[in-house]
Amino acid sequence: MVNLITVVGAGNVGATAAQRLAEKELAKTVVLVDVLEGVPQGKGLDQWQSAPIESYDARVIGTNSYDETAGSDIVVITAGIARKPGMSRDDLLNTNAGIVKSVSEQIARSSPHAIIIVVSNPLDVMCYVAKHVTGFPRERVLGMAGVLDTARYRAFLAEALDISVRDIQAMVLGGHGDTMVPLISYTTVSGIPITQLLEKSKLDAIVDRARNGGAEIVKYLKTGSAYYAPSAAAVQMVEAIVLDQRRILPCSAWLEGEYGMSGLYLGVPCKLGEGGLKQIVEVELTADERAALEKSADAVREPMRVLAL
Ligand SMILES: NC(=O)c1ccc[n+]([C@@H]2O[C@H](COP(=O)([O-])OP(=O)(O)OC[C@H]3O[C@@H](n4cnc5c(N)ncnc54)[C@H](O)[C@@H]3O)[C@@H](O)[C@H]2O)c1
Repeated sequence: MVNLITVVGAGNVGATAAQRLAEKELAKTVVLVDVLEGVPQGKGLDQWQSAPIESYDARVIGTNSYDETAGSDIVVITAGIARKPGMSRDDLLNTNAGIVKSVSEQIARSSPHAIIIVVSNPLDVMCYVAKHVTGFPRERVLGMAGVLDTARYRAFLAEALDISVRDIQAMVLGGHGDTMVPLISYTTVSGIPITQLLEKSKLDAIVDRARNGGAEIVKYLKTGSAYYAPSAAAVQMVEAIVLDQRRILPCSAWLEGEYGMSGLYLGVPCKLGEGGLKQIVEVELTADERAALEKSADAVREPMRVLAL
């Protein structure tokens, strides 16, 4: 358990993440910050009042200021607007860049040693904004997308095979968007290559559904985007860091030559533990997977170019 974890943005993802963090007792105090007056306070109080029932001692506090967040060990950024039907993640670019910039400035001032997990979209570009504005090293600025995209892929595979989700090992790399790269060559069921268990046409359909997993939910909800699985994914990254688990999870990380690329955030296998990013793991890719990763990188570089910081 660490002393203090801050979640910025007390909306759907942020509030659910705060609840999960408290229930897992990953910090003594979880602070929920939002610009909306009363919302973080009300949600924080409500969550704290569920502690005697759920039996956790992590204290949840809601606030509109960064005073209570000072000295945070970890900050999860979920502030920003979410997609509505028909919108792509890139449609959120300018609004969320402004929000993530101002949030990052305040975090750098109040919690200069924090590890930041970015959730706001467009994810890979927002990670870049947070790293650029805070000046934090890449070990301490990571983005959540791959864990979620992989969870969607694993859930659909488990459903198709009628087996436990626990037995599916998989990895989705690349940017958090339509160009994401599910690695079929590394997808196994308890070590058995997935290609031995599912025919290609079914596998292709699942890959396609995972790629559009976020849009499918936006279409149902109409007024916002997914938040149960996204908050669970962000909390899994926090847990790996807090408990120094050294888990290999697909995360958006700043590349400095890995996979032959530099100067952008992209989803790659990362070892997470104390201090944040411990290592980027480079795996062999097929020619098709490498080409797909390059294409995905281009889709991240494009909005980075038009960003005015
Ligand atoms: N990376 C992923 O895989 C993933 C998954 C789901 C959602 N998201 C993204 O996460 C973000 C949040 O989604 P949501 O569903 O919680 O949205 P939401 O609208 O429910 O909540 C966003 C919250 O941010 C707050 N906010 C706005 N400006 C702020 C500021 N300057 N400081 C603090 N708080 C501020 C809003 O008041 C609101 O309460 C969106 O950008 C969404 O696209 C990313």
